[in-house]
Amino acid sequence: MALTPKPLTPPPGLAVRAAITLRRSLLRAAEAVVPARVAILERVIAGCEANMLGELGRLRVADLLEQEPLSADEIAERTGSNPDAMARTMRALVYAGVFSRRADGKFGNNRVSRALLDEDASSRAFAIYFASKSNQHAWADFAETLRTGKNAFERVHGTSVWDWFDAHPEERETFACAMMSITIAEAAGIASTYPFGEAQKVCDVGGGRGTLLSEILLHHPKVRGVLVDAPGVLASAKHLLDARGVRDRVELVPGSFFDSVPSGADIYVLKTVLHDWDDERSRKILSIVRSAMKPGARLVNVDFIVEADCDHYGVTIDMHMMVVCGEGRERSRRDFERLLQATGFRMQRTLSTSTGMGIIEAVAV
Ligand SMILES: C[S@@+](CC[C@H](N)C(=O)[O-])C[C@H]1O[C@@H](n2cnc3c(N)ncnc32)[C@H](O)[C@@H]1O
Repeated sequence: MALTPKPLTPPPGLAVRAAITLRRSLLRAAEAVVPARVAILERVIAGCEANMLGELGRLRVADLLEQEPLSADEIAERTGSNPDAMARTMRALVYAGVFSRRADGKFGNNRVSRALLDEDASSRAFAIYFASKSNQHAWADFAETLRTGKNAFERVHGTSVWDWFDAHPEERETFACAMMSITIAEAAGIASTYPFGEAQKVCDVGGGRGTLLSEILLHHPKVRGVLVDAPGVLASAKHLLDARGVRDRVELVPGSFFDSVPSGADIYVLKTVLHDWDDERSRKILSIVRSAMKPGARLVNVDFIVEADCDHYGVTIDMHMMVVCGEGRERSRRDFERLLQATGFRMQRTLSTSTGMGIIEAVAV
């Protein structure tokens, strides 16, 4: 999906929810017809797929195949890979439903592999991020996280994932692109569901490259924006804001939300920020944001809302937050209410995006 100065069309909520439910039912039905040990085996070896997708994403194999179908030897030659290893990797990914194999033995893209094409919001970055050594090394220490509840990334690398990104700008860029590929799927739904047009100024705190903020501004032409994030992230936000034609409506404020955020906005947005942090640091972020707000100003927090019986992939994202981020977690509605009450907010209402994320509106009291 190339980013242009046009607002995106939100996905049809009912159809998306129906598709997600149908897919879940079909997957469960498919599992019911194989022995349980096969179901487990397939779950376990699926971990290999993340590594294969990450590396083929890095080598831009989907982009090569979009130009013309290629044999495994040709893909290997163009990517500097071992021909036998490439043939086996392609075969395994065709089995997994990514890429297709033609009658002449050449490989091509299919609907799924096209999501890896190198466009602005490609899933390629997400695959590369997840397969990266720093992430995989953290996950390899899961046993200790399960024993202690402490995040593995810091234990393994001696630094938080955010400080790691500061010291490894290439990985920071990949992560920012990965976030973009997720946020772009939600942005139009959030921008059109919540009445941002009632504000004059919207401040997106930890807003990454401005994927959501640019969408809000395109849906609500009179609104101005403020984007707060680490300096390195904001440097690459400029390109996105230019591409979306809203650069002149956005003030970029580099800094840490643990220190301060700019005052004067009517609506403050936190999208998948609190889920990166434990309760103590989430309270700190909320308190800093609250101190920038006038009474009556609104906070719009977008996160998965995960209840005990949650039947949504947010529960798996929750695991990633626990292992890699600062003891982060996905939260229930009640968890959010407690955090908000403790930091000077009143939770007003909860809305839902088409893909099942929660939009929590709170007012500064
Ligand atoms: C999970 S990403 C969410 C990005 C964006 N809100 C979105 O949904 O696409 C978390 C963001 O918080 C930013 N971040 C982390 N620590 C920060 C800090 N101390 N101050 C400001 N931003 C920070 C990261 O750079 C990243 O862009």
